[in-house]
Amino acid sequence: MLARAAADLDVDVTVLTHDVASSAAQVCPAVVAPTLDAATLIDFGRALDVVTFEHELVDRKTLLAAEAAGVSLQPSAECLGRLVDKIAQRELLRTCGVPAPPHVVARDQSELRRVAATTGFPCVVKSSRGGYDGRGVVVIRDPDELDRFAKGPGVGWLVEPLLDIERELAVQIVRGRGGSCQVYPVVETHQVDGICHQVVVPGDVDADVAATAVGYAHALANATGYVGVLAVELFVVGGELVVNELAPRVHNTAHHSIDACTTSQFENHVRAVLGLPLGPVDLIVDAAVMTNVIATTDGTQALAELVPEPGVRLHLYGKAARPGRKVGHVVACGTDVGVLRHTSRRVADALVTSRRRSDPPGNNEHGAPAPPREGENHG
Ligand SMILES: Nc1ncnc2c1ncn2[C@@H]1O[C@H](COP(=O)(O)OP(=O)(O)O)[C@@H](O)[C@H]1O
Ligand SMILES: [Mg+2]
Repeated sequence: MLARAAADLDVDVTVLTHDVASSAAQVCPAVVAPTLDAATLIDFGRALDVVTFEHELVDRKTLLAAEAAGVSLQPSAECLGRLVDKIAQRELLRTCGVPAPPHVVARDQSELRRVAATTGFPCVVKSSRGGYDGRGVVVIRDPDELDRFAKGPGVGWLVEPLLDIERELAVQIVRGRGGSCQVYPVVETHQVDGICHQVVVPGDVDADVAATAVGYAHALANATGYVGVLAVELFVVGGELVVNELAPRVHNTAHHSIDACTTSQFENHVRAVLGLPLGPVDLIVDAAVMTNVIATTDGTQALAELVPEPGVRLHLYGKAARPGRKVGHVVACGTDVGVLRHTSRRVADALVTSRRRSDPPGNNEHGAPAPPREGENHG
């Protein structure tokens, strides 16, 4: 989606990916190489005006080495290196005076046991690095479960109480190289098992809550000198707005912007990293609902016999299906949010069903989500 937005602006894109079958490599030229390797990134980036990112599996030292070798990274190595770590994110929130959920940091296994015991069970344990779509987030219900969990390797964790979340919101800010910003209308997000299933815009939030969320987005983007699209995920807990996490990239919670906003998040990200003027971000429809197409089986089926309907747009990513993997999304635009939620869900379900029908037999339809892979697009 980012490469296509760039092409629409006559911007040439080459993608660096470890996977020749990746979505981006299907629509633009690709260099297939290990993306975490400094020499590779330097070779790749030297020939380009700008290098930007669409996922968080980056290595801070590699980024710094590339920048030192003259590669223009947008956002910068320092900024991105900090924002891909959930512990560093919480430090940033604190220094910006932005409220976060209650949490304690654990740096090693023994600290994790101590901190979880103090927090009490059930508690939520989040890997500081490498998690997304709930994969780095586990609910630990008792000390035995913690013992099993704490045996694996770890890179540091946030430990939080299991919160009674009233509502989840998100807001995306795009910040240009000169510091100008645009903020997309606040959305309401609906997750199942830690994975975002639907995004509703405009979110059903009071104007003062929305204004507070927008204020937090400005504060965080400005404090880090961010360039590009930065997504801010928020919870409403006990009537209070807190920032749960940040995503330094184009984000699933703004995928509706292609169909529902004056300028998509993808176009604005390209504009931002190249130093071009940003586009306006207002809604061009009364309301929109985005529903993710989440695969339930393995397979690589093409789009089946789905009939297009007015106001509904399909976006499929050319990804091999694996249970729990986001392989596309559907956006329904109109006026009545209830109807749009139903319609986009129906179409997304039909896509999964049609994929399932043409699937080879013998697959486990109820399998656990596949583990993350390096360089996978996190949506
Ligand atoms: N402390 C918590 N209490 C209850 N639910 C939580 C808590 N933290 C996260 N969640 C749920 O898990 C989802 C994923 O957690 P998040 O921190 O956003 O990790 P990621 O998106 O990186 O997987 C959240 O959107 C929310 O629905
Ligand atoms: Mg999240």
